[in-house]
Amino acid sequence: MADINVHDLDPALSFGSRVTGVTRDALQDEAVRARLNRLFEERGVIVFEGVESTAEMQVQISEVFGPLKDHPVAYVERADADKLLGVIEIKAKPDGAIVEIDGEQLSTWQPWHFDHAYNNELNRAGVLRSLKIAETGGRTGFADGIQIWRDMDPAFREKARDMHLLLNLDLRYGRQKFGLPENFRVVQEHADSLSAENENGRCSVHPAVWTRDTGETVFHMTGYGCRGMVGDRSDGAFEAMEEVWREAMRVIQPYYHVWHPTDMVIWDNWRVLHQACGCAPGEERVVHRTTIKGDYGLGRWEDEPAREAQPA
Ligand SMILES: [Fe+2]
Repeated sequence: MADINVHDLDPALSFGSRVTGVTRDALQDEAVRARLNRLFEERGVIVFEGVESTAEMQVQISEVFGPLKDHPVAYVERADADKLLGVIEIKAKPDGAIVEIDGEQLSTWQPWHFDHAYNNELNRAGVLRSLKIAETGGRTGFADGIQIWRDMDPAFREKARDMHLLLNLDLRYGRQKFGLPENFRVVQEHADSLSAENENGRCSVHPAVWTRDTGETVFHMTGYGCRGMVGDRSDGAFEAMEEVWREAMRVIQPYYHVWHPTDMVIWDNWRVLHQACGCAPGEERVVHRTTIKGDYGLGRWEDEPAREAQPA
């Protein structure tokens, strides 16, 4: 078996592993691939260190965990659409949002969220690689929904259990009603950017809490693009969600990744929330992401009937 080394990301955290020794050759070894898949399932986040920093390697690592999925939104920029299906480029743009947190202005900042929430299907995982690392930060935060659920006060767990969130791609912070930090201000708003599926306010529906086949319950909520709860778009619905969210933020134990050029990070999008910590406006920051296909089976469009509950 090829020699890969696995360590916990941080002994104080209940999730995340750090792996070194991953090469193209090592990835041909079935035993290595199986070990990486087990690790992904058990730990939720894998930081690959010292890997070859190319799009080809990013795709090779990604495909260990499943087939790639093209991004559901047509206007999202592709890194090289002809050759490498599904590698998207995320970078600071002049018309992108600028926010201010505790008096500091940030571009490319994003609140805690999971990807493709505005879609009926939730991708299995994302793999990130940082091509231009911002000098003043550009860190990415990850937080484990299993840990959050485990540590939440049972009274709040009860409230969260029946919540089904309406989500769409209108990500303007002026419309976001919970899930933003204290001392937050919008300097420049996101461009209005609905996908065809989200036009006319059409939302996806995802549960705030779900149980994996392996038995763990996951807190899986975001205020990013949240338009209410199924059957309830009132202020009261947002107050109820905010109350649960505050409890989640009270117990959250995040990991913040500081990027190096030879890092790649995969996270389980059905379990782990993530956050972009942003960088100073005007700074260059370029990230490439691949998206791994899958479906946890609990999301739907709001105008479709609820799916059968999956066996827990
Ligand atoms: Fe994201």
